[in-house]
Amino acid sequence: MSEASGGGRSNALDRVLPLLDRPPGEPDVSRGYLDLLGEARPHDTIAQRLMRSGFLPRIYEDLWRPVIFGVFKGPLGPDIEEEYTLARDWLNLAATPDGTVLDVACGPGNVTRALAAGMTGHGLVVGIDASATMLDRAVADTVRPSRRGENGAADVAYVRGDAADLPFGDGVFDAVCCFGGLYLFDDPWTAVDGITRVLRPGGRAVFLTTRRPELPVIGLGSSVLGRLAGIRMFGADDLCYALRGRGFTGLRQRSYGLMQFVGATRG
Ligand SMILES: C[S@@+](CC[C@H](N)C(=O)[O-])C[C@H]1O[C@@H](n2cnc3c(N)ncnc32)[C@H](O)[C@@H]1O
Repeated sequence: MSEASGGGRSNALDRVLPLLDRPPGEPDVSRGYLDLLGEARPHDTIAQRLMRSGFLPRIYEDLWRPVIFGVFKGPLGPDIEEEYTLARDWLNLAATPDGTVLDVACGPGNVTRALAAGMTGHGLVVGIDASATMLDRAVADTVRPSRRGENGAADVAYVRGDAADLPFGDGVFDAVCCFGGLYLFDDPWTAVDGITRVLRPGGRAVFLTTRRPELPVIGLGSSVLGRLAGIRMFGADDLCYALRGRGFTGLRQRSYGLMQFVGATRG
């Protein structure tokens, strides 16, 4: 049975504590997730403020995610279910039914739950996000009996923390997913360093992020507009290059419109 925290400490949150690099003396789990940020906020852009609002988490999964990501992916891009299948396949979750999986920038837990649904054993999927309102929604939607029957066999737990300073020990995860997060981070390469560190050698990572158009004028325009809103537009090769430089192998990439999926195995 999938299990998330519901107000007190749960079995799933208990399984997170040994994965932390600096476990807190008094873990704050009062809102159903482990809060390691307290009053701290990673940084402040228009996009970040939207993510922290009370409004976006309410419409995120059913409206915002399909519409906005649909526009960015373009007409040939995969729909959300195809995205989830890609994530499960590229992370090879079928081969790690009891594994530990990290979902970075989990938002309201939509991808987190889809990853858990791909695990048949007693695995653990940990979603981490900086937004308290997103995590409130994630906890509510995960404890509630599944709206779409998507909850799988794995436990699901949520942590409030900074993706640029992942609070986990070295190599504690078998797989890491980061969909729709990298382009929001102040320093995405520090986040990629952290993802590399917490992933065990041979573990897989998968990313969904932005992709700058090739045409120089449009590419420059999208970068400038993106910057104003707090969204980084990545060059077509930036992420692959960064992963290769960190010793990843078996790189795969699929690009659709203004977005790209990138997957790789840690060497
Ligand atoms: C667009 S949502 C992605 C949700 C989900 N992964 C998906 O693909 O639909 C982006 C999330 O990134 C989170 N985020 C942005 N910067 C962060 C940071 N530095 N640390 C942790 N989470 C961050 C936001 O709070 C937001 O919930």
